[in-house]
Amino acid sequence: MGVARQADRLASAGGFDGDLLVGAAWLHDIGYASQLADTGFHPIDGARHLRGLGADERLVNLVAHHSCARIEARLRGVDALLEQEFPQDMSLPHDELCFCDQTTGPDGEVLDVIERLAEIRTRYEDGHVVRQFVDVAEPELVATVRRIERAYPLQPR
Ligand SMILES: [Fe+2]
Repeated sequence: MGVARQADRLASAGGFDGDLLVGAAWLHDIGYASQLADTGFHPIDGARHLRGLGADERLVNLVAHHSCARIEARLRGVDALLEQEFPQDMSLPHDELCFCDQTTGPDGEVLDVIERLAEIRTRYEDGHVVRQFVDVAEPELVATVRRIERAYPLQPR
C-alpha cells in the first residue's frame, strides 16, 4: 500500500502511464505469496502468475524487473531465465517503480533510499543473497531514486 501511495504521488507528474505504474506498485511483490512460489525468486514467480492470468504484458514486465531484479537474478543464477521469459522492455517506467519501492519502508512509511537500504540490511544476515544484492545494487538503486527525484519534484506529503 505504501509503494502504491508513492506511485500515486508520481502518477500525477505525467510523462508515463500513471495507472500502469500504480497497478505495478500494488502487484510488484505478489510473487512472495507462498502459493506462487516456484523458482523462489519473487519477481519471476509474480510475473509468471500475472502472465497466467492474462495481465497486461507491460505490467508483467514491470513486476519481473522491479528494483533491479536482474542483479539479484544473477546472484541467484536465474538471470538467463528472467531475460528469456521476460526480456526487459526499457520503454516502461521501471525507474519510477524502483523509486516507489525503494522509498517505502516495510510498514509503508516513506524513507530515503539510503535509510531503506540500511533497513533491508538489518533484516538479512551477512552473506544472505539479499544482503549481497543490496551491496551490489546500491549504487544503481540510489542513482535511480535520485534521478527520479530530480525528474519529478514531488509535493511534500
Ligand atoms: Fe520485491
